[in-house]
Amino acid sequence: MKQSLETFFNPKSIAVVGASKNPTKIGHASLKNILISDYPCRLYPVNPNEDEILGMKCYKKLTDIPNTIDLVMVSVPEVLVAQIIKDCVKKKVKWIIIITSGFSEIGNHEGEETIKKLVEGTGIRILGPNTMGYKNASDNLDVSFVFGMPRKGNLALISQSGALGMGMIYLANNEFVGLSKIIGVGNKIDIDDDDLVDYFSKDPDTKVIGLYIEGIRHGRDFMNSIKACDKPVLVVKAGRSAAGARATASHTGSMAGSDELYSAAIKQAGGIRCRDVVELFDMARALAGQPPAKGNRIGIITNGGGLGILLTDACEANGLTVPKLSLKTFKKIEKIVPGLVKPNNPVDLVADAGFYRYWASTLALLEDKNIDGIIVASVHAGYARPREYAGAILKMIHQQKLHHEYQKPILGCWVGGKEFEDLILDLKAVGVPIYPSSWRAARAMLALSLEGERVKREQGN
Ligand code: COA
Repeated sequence: MKQSLETFFNPKSIAVVGASKNPTKIGHASLKNILISDYPCRLYPVNPNEDEILGMKCYKKLTDIPNTIDLVMVSVPEVLVAQIIKDCVKKKVKWIIIITSGFSEIGNHEGEETIKKLVEGTGIRILGPNTMGYKNASDNLDVSFVFGMPRKGNLALISQSGALGMGMIYLANNEFVGLSKIIGVGNKIDIDDDDLVDYFSKDPDTKVIGLYIEGIRHGRDFMNSIKACDKPVLVVKAGRSAAGARATASHTGSMAGSDELYSAAIKQAGGIRCRDVVELFDMARALAGQPPAKGNRIGIITNGGGLGILLTDACEANGLTVPKLSLKTFKKIEKIVPGLVKPNNPVDLVADAGFYRYWASTLALLEDKNIDGIIVASVHAGYARPREYAGAILKMIHQQKLHHEYQKPILGCWVGGKEFEDLILDLKAVGVPIYPSSWRAARAMLALSLEGERVKREQGN
C-alpha cells in the first residue's frame, strides 16, 4: 500500500543535502527557495564543510540532525547519491527528491537500480532523479531549485521536463492561469504520473490536471488513474514523430512508444490530448472557469461575419456542430440584429455591435435548449467598442453563474490590437476564457464538450 502524497506536498521538516553557500550552486538555490517560501516547516542544510548557511545551522551529515525529517532534497553529484540514500534509510525519512542528473537519461540505469534496491521495503518514496522538484502554490511551498512561483489557482501540472515545466510557470503567470501545484517527475524511478493523478484527483485545491509526458513507465496504471479521476485530465504527449521519439530517449531516457496507441489509450481513459502547452493552458482556462458543455451544439455570436465563418469552420473541423437556430430563438434575435441582417448561426451582430446586442443575443442562446455552448466573438472593427463587448461577456458569465438553467459554457474570441489586449488581460485576470484565434477558441470548446461527455459517463447516463 503506497502512502498518500499528503506529507510529501506538506512536509513538517525538510533537509537539503548538498546545500551550499555559493549562490551559483543548485544546492544554494534549493535551500533558498524553501527558506523564502511562506510555509511553516523545520529546515536543515546539510554540507560536511559548513557550520552555517543562510543564517541556519548546517549539519555535516543527515544522520547528525537530531529531529525527524519528512522530506530530503538531494543536490549532490551522482557518485555521492547512493551514500545519501543510505543515510535517508538510517534516518527513516519518508520522502526523497533527487535533483541530481546523470542516471538513465545518459544510460546509467545501474545507478537507478542501486537507489531502488537501497529503499526496497523501507516505505521511502522517491521523486526523480533528474527532477526540478515541485512548487506547491496552494500552500506557498517551493521545493525546487528554479526561481519563480506560479499564481495560485486550480490547475495541477505534472511535467517530465524541468525546463519546460519552468517555462510553463512563466507562461501560466503571463496568461493569468493559476496553478495549485507543479511538479517535475524527471526519470520517474518511483513517484510516477499515476500516483500524482490519483493524488490530484482528491486534492481540494485542484480542479484540472495537466501533464507533459515523454514516456510512460506503467501504462495500465496511468490509464486506470485517468479513468478513475473525476476531474478533467489534459495530456501533452511529446515524441509524436520518429525524430521527436529519438529526442525523448536522449532527454529523459523515455521510450516514446506508438503515438496512435497513446492517443487511443488517453481518449479511452477519458483524458484529453493537447497538441502543445499553449493548447493545454487554453483548455485548462476553459475547464477551470466554465461549466462543461452538455453536448456539441455551438452557438456563435460575432460582430464580424468573417470571424464567425472561421469559428464555424474551426468548430466543425473539431467535431462540434453549429446548428441552425430554432424558430423561437430566431424571433428573439431578429429583434436585436439590425434590419438588413437575417438571424443565423453564426449570429452576425454587424460591425458596430455594442453592449446590448451582445448581451441580448447571448441571453437568447443561453435560453435555447438546442445550444450547448456559446462563443462570443469580437473584431475591433471601426465602430466597435471593445469595452462594451467585454462588459457584455462579464455580465453574461455573472448571470450564467446565478441561473442553473444557463449552465452552458461561454467563451470569448477576439481579433484586434492594443486597446483590445488591455481589456483581454482584465478578462483573463478574472478567469474569463478568451482567445485570440478562432482555432484556439474552438479547441477550448471541444475540451468543454469532451468534459461534458466524461461527466455523463461518470454519472452513468
Ligand atoms: N553531503 C552533503 N553535501 C555534500 C556532500 C555530502 N556528502 N559532499 C559534498 N557536498 C557538498 C559540496 O561540498 C558542495 O557544497 P559547496 O558548494 O559548499 O562546496 C555541494 O554539496 C554540491 O556539490 P558539488 O560537488 O559542488 O556539486 P554541484 O553543485 O556542482 O552539482 C548537482 C551537483 C546535483 C547540481 C549536479 O550533479 C547535477 O546533477 N546537476 C544537474 C541538475 C539538473 O539539472 N537536474 C534536472 C532538473 S530538471
